[in-house]
Amino acid sequence: MPKRPKASAKGVPAPKPYAFRVTVTQVYMDNCSHCHGDNGEGGGAGSATLLTKELFDQAHDRGFFDAIKDGVPDRAMPAYGGVWPDNMIWGLVVHIRELQAKALRAKYGSPKPDAKGIYHSKHHNFKMETVIKEGLGLSTPWAIDWLPDGKMLITNRPGALVVFEKGALRPVEGVPTSIQLGQGGLLDITVHPDYKSNGWIYMAYAEPDEKGAAMTKIVRGKLVFGKRIRWTSQQTIFQAPKDSYNKSGNHFGSRIVFDGKRHIYFSIGERGQQDLAQDPGKPNGKIFRVNEDGTVPPDNPFLGGKGLPEVWSYGHRNPQGLAIDLNGNVFDTEHGPRGGDEFNLIKKGANYGWPKAIYSINYDDVPMTFPWPRDGVAYEAPLLRWLPSCATCGLAVVRGPKFGKWKGDLLAGGLAGKNLDRIRVKGGKVVEHEELLQGMGRVRDVAYGPDGAIYLVLNGPDEVDRLVEAP
Ligand code: HEC
Repeated sequence: MPKRPKASAKGVPAPKPYAFRVTVTQVYMDNCSHCHGDNGEGGGAGSATLLTKELFDQAHDRGFFDAIKDGVPDRAMPAYGGVWPDNMIWGLVVHIRELQAKALRAKYGSPKPDAKGIYHSKHHNFKMETVIKEGLGLSTPWAIDWLPDGKMLITNRPGALVVFEKGALRPVEGVPTSIQLGQGGLLDITVHPDYKSNGWIYMAYAEPDEKGAAMTKIVRGKLVFGKRIRWTSQQTIFQAPKDSYNKSGNHFGSRIVFDGKRHIYFSIGERGQQDLAQDPGKPNGKIFRVNEDGTVPPDNPFLGGKGLPEVWSYGHRNPQGLAIDLNGNVFDTEHGPRGGDEFNLIKKGANYGWPKAIYSINYDDVPMTFPWPRDGVAYEAPLLRWLPSCATCGLAVVRGPKFGKWKGDLLAGGLAGKNLDRIRVKGGKVVEHEELLQGMGRVRDVAYGPDGAIYLVLNGPDEVDRLVEAP
């Protein structure tokens, strides 16, 4: 960590202009630590600690930003707005958020089970069970869903689709050839809600072209069960234009959900080409909505040459969680860099800001931009973001009757954060946000199972666990 400079005769160094790539930690240590402490604990010039649960609330974002920009009247807090650009000021807010998150984690720890292995959350007690153990054959499992007879389907990112039945994994032959390219591979799987009558199963994967470039593709097909299990009858539901295939290993998305009104929604990340997320004419960084057979609904927002007809919303970075709640609201979770992992309510035709209006600083601790609207462009703000970034992945809705006191709540996982969070939304606002679990492994997918248990697909260990209600 950069050292705090010695205080001058006047006590506080005058803010100085900085060169281009200065870290926010450096700026904080040079200018703020005198009063707010090296870690936000306060003490200088009568400043109080910033490390409280109350001040960690994201409702304070704008207040913090304004305090740093304009100063605090009648208090020792100087104004920095004339000296530094807004992105630096926002970067300092993120820095304070990270200091707070670290301090609060150290103080309150992670959810822990009692002596009987029972976790006590706000509305439910639950236990953890292992369903598919590490070593049974899963390899970076990515997504999970069920057939009506209880068979569990699991994609593995390196390319294998497996069926879990009676304690064993069986491979499926004939699945589409995906390319393992960074975060790409075999991705989401979703069983059609009317599977019993139509047999369709939808999958997303990184499709290679002849040159080894790749893009997310959505297909559907059917499983034929015999001595072997075969993937057959494949149809393309969405294929991006050929010129969008690239060799980046970043940000494929992808999740597929049914809305119960004969549409599917699915997500594709910006594939490392962040500026394309702002262009509705490109498939990068979008959430899409199509009819179940891949045709375009007549009420999609970018028809008539305004963009790709399948696009529903834009300005996304890498949405790896997508869910529709019991009231029909569409939500995504998506990865930002530091401080910018988001939980969004998805609206028709809306712009979610990446990379123009964002909450992140970059991975190297350098400011990027700031979150608020400007230039007359309206951006949708997230309902919630994770601090620190948890690499959010997987999103599910509790359907009940099991875990009935969470009915309608969203469950979001995190890879780097190794966390499972419960989120309750009312009237377009988050009214409850609770971390249920933390530290059990990287959470790749979350699902509410047909048995009413909450399933977690973990990477490292590569296993499937579930939460079951406990007394
Ligand atoms: C000379 C002392 C001093 C310096 C230097 C200073 N602050 Fe402050 N700051 C204060 C005081 C005093 C307050 C009023 C709230 C309090 O009592 O802590 C305050 C308030 C704030 C708040 C609002 C907190 C709230 O409760 O809403 C933020 C955010 C903040 N400072 C960030 C910074 C940052 C970032 C820097 C460096 C760029 C900085 N401050 C530099 C003294 C200082």
